[in-house]
Amino acid sequence: MKSERALGFRADASGPDREPSVRVGTLGIAFRLVYECRACNHSRILNKDLQMTSIAPTPRPGILQIEAYVPGESKLPSGVKPAKLSSNETPLGPSPLAVEAYQSVAGQLERYPDGQATILREAIASRYGLDVERIVCGSGSDEILTMLAHAYLGPGDEAIYTQHGFLVYRIAILANGATPVVAPEQNLKTDVDAILKRVTDNTRMVFLANPNNPTGTYIPIDEVRRLRSGLRGDILLVLDGAYAEYVVRNDYEAGIELVATTHNTVMTRTFSKIHGLAALRIGWGYCPLAVADVLNRIRGPFNLSSAAIAAGAAAIADTAHVEKSVAHNSEWLPRLETEIARLGLTVTPSVANFILIHFPDQPGKTARDADAFLKSKGLILRMVGAYGLGHCLRMTIGTEDENRRVIAALSQFMGALG
Ligand SMILES: Cc1ncc(COP(=O)(O)O)c(C=O)c1O
Repeated sequence: MKSERALGFRADASGPDREPSVRVGTLGIAFRLVYECRACNHSRILNKDLQMTSIAPTPRPGILQIEAYVPGESKLPSGVKPAKLSSNETPLGPSPLAVEAYQSVAGQLERYPDGQATILREAIASRYGLDVERIVCGSGSDEILTMLAHAYLGPGDEAIYTQHGFLVYRIAILANGATPVVAPEQNLKTDVDAILKRVTDNTRMVFLANPNNPTGTYIPIDEVRRLRSGLRGDILLVLDGAYAEYVVRNDYEAGIELVATTHNTVMTRTFSKIHGLAALRIGWGYCPLAVADVLNRIRGPFNLSSAAIAAGAAAIADTAHVEKSVAHNSEWLPRLETEIARLGLTVTPSVANFILIHFPDQPGKTARDADAFLKSKGLILRMVGAYGLGHCLRMTIGTEDENRRVIAALSQFMGALG
């Protein structure tokens, strides 16, 4: 055994005076699995019949079931600068004040950021009238979702999300060895009863994107409340409000009040969409104090950069910029829905900054054909087959010019092939 190099795998089976162990070592290119009993100095090669075994580090169960998230495309082979309408980014860009704040940290790059992201959390608290202690910031809201799953899910646990729910939920659930449970939707909309029906003794979390990506649909706050009251107290309800700022509906609320008045609901939000800071990776969660405490124990101590903290704080304070974005979206969302429906295509009514366009099965007119045609015109939309919507394309509301180009190209696509 002396001539072998330990690879770091060692499993002790009992106490200090009797310590049998299994050790992996190398001898030339062969691997040997060795049993050692330190009490009697006896050792035995367990795999002596094998010249080579394929012992390798193994991820925990569930990880290899994950299909890695595929971000929206941003490049075209032609090298032509495309209109990128594939990731629900804002066509208006960030607030100029946020860009200025971002640049202002350039002189102190040798310093660690403020690990509490204080000015950012205070800016968020002041914007929405929240308790700053309950706000936890993350590297994108993805990180908050991931941390929640990490803290509250493990093998044997189940977490529910809806049929066409945001894909990061499934990834986060599987990454922690838990079981994803899918609740069917009704007409591409969250069905609260379907979620409640899937609750078992093992359910620990429910993820709900409201509005949902990629459908663009939402459920009113009364329905969210009904969901909360139908769930056991030990089930964490995660309300993902990545697109909340775009919703102009009287019966919609992102969930702040529900978080404030329950001990088991979290709301997540992002700076990647309406605030135009996707590149900086900023998200936040509004949590019960006990949940905030849990997240603060497991998050990286400096999980937001100084640039992100500064730019985020300036962005959320610039309400005029946000209002401009809402106005642009509110103008173009119905216009695109109407114009595209006029071409004979179904569009799912959306309250977010994107629309889901349905294409027929007919060869030459499918979503895939449309995607190729649009790309030939420099327009990148999003294929959403990974969400079980292979017959659809998701389009982010773009600039006026981009929106007009999509309408013209789709009109040509439908007309030319009609
Ligand atoms: C519903 C939903 N939640 C969360 C996110 C994650 O956003 P980010 O990590 O950029 O904050 C997205 C991004 O597309 C989303 O669509």
